[in-house]
Amino acid sequence: MKPIKVDLGSRSYSVLVDRGLLKKAGTLISPVCTSKKVLLLSTKPIYRLYGKNVVSSLQAKGFETHPFLVADGEAHKNEATLFKVLSEMTRLSFQRDSCLVALGGGVIGDLGGFAASIYMRGIQFVQCPTTFLAQVDAGIGGKTAIDFKGIKNLVGSFYQPKIVLADTSALRTLSDRQLRTGLAEVIKYGVIEDSELFDLLEQKLDKVLQKDPELLTHLARRSCEIKARIVSADEKESGQRAWLNFGHTLGHALEAYFKYDVLTHGEAISYGMWFAALLSERSGLCDRTVVDRIKDLLDRAGLFKPIPRFDERKVYEKMTLDKKAKGGQIQFVLTRKIGLVTIQKSVPQSVIFSTLRQLRA
Ligand SMILES: NC(=O)c1ccc[n+]([C@@H]2O[C@H](COP(=O)([O-])OP(=O)(O)OC[C@H]3O[C@@H](n4cnc5c(N)ncnc54)[C@H](O)[C@@H]3O)[C@@H](O)[C@H]2O)c1
Ligand SMILES: [Zn+2]
Repeated sequence: MKPIKVDLGSRSYSVLVDRGLLKKAGTLISPVCTSKKVLLLSTKPIYRLYGKNVVSSLQAKGFETHPFLVADGEAHKNEATLFKVLSEMTRLSFQRDSCLVALGGGVIGDLGGFAASIYMRGIQFVQCPTTFLAQVDAGIGGKTAIDFKGIKNLVGSFYQPKIVLADTSALRTLSDRQLRTGLAEVIKYGVIEDSELFDLLEQKLDKVLQKDPELLTHLARRSCEIKARIVSADEKESGQRAWLNFGHTLGHALEAYFKYDVLTHGEAISYGMWFAALLSERSGLCDRTVVDRIKDLLDRAGLFKPIPRFDERKVYEKMTLDKKAKGGQIQFVLTRKIGLVTIQKSVPQSVIFSTLRQLRA
């Protein structure tokens, strides 16, 4: 299959989306990576499933490969784990031409990317995303980060990988809830840029939820194409990269409000996308059918996990603290129709509150 290109001049790279890529990791990585030494960063559960294949494939291509496993989960995407990774690379006498390969979900990708970006001011880095969320979103685009002092992704960098290997056969072992959380991002791509993708999801949702391998590969590829195009046009988010935040303003606020415990990221942005669609309708940008289609698809995808009643003032406050809010002014991504979004900075507070109340009810 043809690679998808993220076009950033001398830092351009390919995103490969297909089944069976991890077994060929060594062959795929060696043309873009001059390193001899590789740190394979992962967690125990992921390594148990896919690590051995990657190690033997890297070794077959002459890479001196050092697996390094950290504790699994968002709770460990922090400075303590970061320093463990940096310490291990120091212990192994890693040089500037060494490489870090991140094998895992968004947590490992974000952590590994950040470690690679600061060790000796930047070593080579490869993403092997294994969750649907990481394959369609986190694994490409070069945002890296750790959580710090309880604030998500507070400390990080923009640092692009040398190549991304999204092996969709790894999705076989993913839990249904994790699959759906990635699916929320795919639905988002449909709303922001691709009405055909949205139609396809409406028609074939049952097959998607049954993890039809070909369909999942198609969805991951299409998502990567859209994200790659947007990142190539606006790497540092001064313009259209902000479209990717559709549903995220409220989504991030809800995740934080519920202390990252009640909702997965995809579930949180699903409420956020429904909210953004309602705001769009109330702002006269779209009609009711757009709101209904978005809400129905998210609902059928099982993404509206019931949530406890929330204090809308506190959630509002969290939205004003969003990294993307400027000077307390919340910036919303709203939709005009499926496949087209626009940035709105001046949604009246009263409309925001009444829409939040509608959601809470
Ligand atoms: N950098 C970005 O642009 C970007 C974008 C979106 C999200 N993120 C970050 O991504 C993180 C969330 O990523 P995530 O949802 O992948 O979570 P995650 O990395 O914690 O993975 C979720 C769980 O799935 C397991 N897992 C991974 N692959 C598996 C497989 N193939 N089979 C079975 N189990 C598997 C993991 O062990 C983990 O327990 C957050 O920290 C978020 O901030 C980053
Ligand atoms: Zn997201």
